[in-house]
Amino acid sequence: MIPFPPRSAIDYRDGKIRFIDQRYLPGRLEIIETDDFRVVAKAIKTLAIRGAPLIGVAAAFAVASYARIVVDHPDAVKRLITSIEILRATRPTAVNLFNSLAIMQLALESAPVEALVSTLEYAAIAIHDDDRNRCELIAAAGLPLVPADARIVTICNTGFLATAGIGTALGVITKAFDAGKVSEVFALETRPLLQGARLTAWELIQSNIPATLLVDGAAASLLKRGGIDLAIIGADRIAANGDTANKIGSLQLALACSKFGVPFYVAAPFTTFDSGTASGEQIEIEERVATEVTHFAGKESAPPGIAVYNPAFDVVDAGLITAFVTDRGLFKPHYSF
Ligand code: MRU
Repeated sequence: MIPFPPRSAIDYRDGKIRFIDQRYLPGRLEIIETDDFRVVAKAIKTLAIRGAPLIGVAAAFAVASYARIVVDHPDAVKRLITSIEILRATRPTAVNLFNSLAIMQLALESAPVEALVSTLEYAAIAIHDDDRNRCELIAAAGLPLVPADARIVTICNTGFLATAGIGTALGVITKAFDAGKVSEVFALETRPLLQGARLTAWELIQSNIPATLLVDGAAASLLKRGGIDLAIIGADRIAANGDTANKIGSLQLALACSKFGVPFYVAAPFTTFDSGTASGEQIEIEERVATEVTHFAGKESAPPGIAVYNPAFDVVDAGLITAFVTDRGLFKPHYSF
């Protein structure tokens, strides 16, 4: 275990991006420093950098740092556009990535030639700081929803490792704990890449929040047993009708909450709301490689030749969501701008 980790998953200084390679947590705290947008693109693809808001921030920093490298090249703008396209193709589901890169492209297209680097760096830092601030507002909005001595269940990782700030769902939990309102947090392990077991459990332990880890399949029995006050999760994309894409297993958790009468909240910044996507059916769900399921800790755990279904996300129907907890306050589905 790493005793005193940084409370930030990413930073940008002097043209260099520094990020935690999350694939090695909790065993090893590996910090990567790079000014190569391709390294960042690969990190997003491989989930070394992950979480909807964080991948948006990382992609923005990657474009800014590349600007320093190509600024004197006659093809600088063209090269930067190519870098944006490559970063855009890394993961399809979280809308934050596309929103951040649209901002970077706008900044690129409107930047005076002599201020290319400063304009792109300013835009990227603004995206980072904006997300950090939104996390604080989400936590403030969510605090009143948490009753005294709350027992809360969550899935995946939505804390500082997934954002530029204290997190979304985990930010609400952390603020509520600091306010003395949380007695126990149940973290679903989040198969197959274990963001719950490796990352959320790690963040909870670091914050001294009483926490229990359980396999995803135990969620329904936990809720049936009773004594859980609420579920709160993050989001990768929220369609115009409120349907919400989030880590695979979220739908199962929402269905179990509905069955057993437990409020089910989605905490997300407005940068995750996608008014251009009508409903969950239009959200592209990333399918990941079979080996994430057929292998465990690098060892084969299923017979060769078995077919695999490995969607990284699922869509929680708007009707299963009690409320959205956002940086602009609480919204009921259907939300309205
Ligand atoms: O595949 P990941 O680890 O990037 O998936 C992350 C999630 O599903 C999170 O719940 C979501 O991005 C919200 S993070 C604040």
